[in-house]
Amino acid sequence: MERVVSIEEVRSILRRPRLEGRTVGLVPTMGALHAGHLALVTASRKRCDLTVVSVFVNPTQFGEGEDFESYPRDLDADVALLEDAGVDVLFAPTVPVMYPPGATTRVDPGPIGSVLCGASRPGHFTGVATVVTKLLGIVHPDVAFFGEKDYQQLRVLEHVVRDLDIDTRIVGVPIVREADGLALSSRNRYLSREDRAHALVLSRALEHVRKSAEAGDTDAAALKAELAARIAAEPAVTLDYAAIVDAKTLERVTVLTRESRALVAARVGSARLIDNVAIRIPGAATEPSRTGA
Ligand code: PAJ
Repeated sequence: MERVVSIEEVRSILRRPRLEGRTVGLVPTMGALHAGHLALVTASRKRCDLTVVSVFVNPTQFGEGEDFESYPRDLDADVALLEDAGVDVLFAPTVPVMYPPGATTRVDPGPIGSVLCGASRPGHFTGVATVVTKLLGIVHPDVAFFGEKDYQQLRVLEHVVRDLDIDTRIVGVPIVREADGLALSSRNRYLSREDRAHALVLSRALEHVRKSAEAGDTDAAALKAELAARIAAEPAVTLDYAAIVDAKTLERVTVLTRESRALVAARVGSARLIDNVAIRIPGAATEPSRTGA
């Protein structure tokens, strides 16, 4: 695996393979890698000739008082995992490489970035869209891989590449979970043993509403209330939001569409955790009928 820190090095490494017609996959990450990230690497290796992984804790997507400084960083461990996973290029730039003095342009994805997590973390998706647009400009991948774990992020980035005519296909990869259901996350490192046990309420509540919905309960407002109530029943967990949305548009729905998504965000100890689940109702309408739940 080649390890590079500058934009010029990435471009020069990729010049020859690209001329030879080899396809390039990009997996953007903030490091502190785990099996969820590695699932994206596996997807990229399956689909593309070369896989580039970026490790960059992006300051512009963290709000004031959030965990930018304390975000887990362990590049040596990341390198070992990526070597084992067969990654071709690791791009691990510093902040001044990505944001040199005078770099003031930002990519604002619009309304899709101001609901759900965007409402609780103003500016977050502008930071994500900006850094990912830059990474796409640096690497020019044929395909970029993102986890469904950050479901809104995936939809926001699809929106950005469409609006900006960026010639990269965005591919979503299913959530990787621990055996007990907890979604893998770099922020799980913040959890004490007790908090980790309390955090299980998120995946359990989501799984419960998925089952009720798929058994025929398609009243989204009732499902959302059930989701919120199950999480509220765990006093160590503070709910930020529970939502049932159309899986494509992220519009809140009152009656489930064919492909809906239940999403939650909550604070457990010092960690803000997110999780979500797909709800598929084969006979339902494809478009949301009413919004506002
Ligand atoms: P990070 O949180 O490091 O996640 C990098 C990628 O790994 C994201 O696409 C995320 O959805 C995916 N991922 C994380 N946990 C996962 C899991 N349990 N299962 C499947 N995929 C998982 O997301 C970011 O970094 C940043 O916002 C980034 C896109 C790199 C921009 O800075």
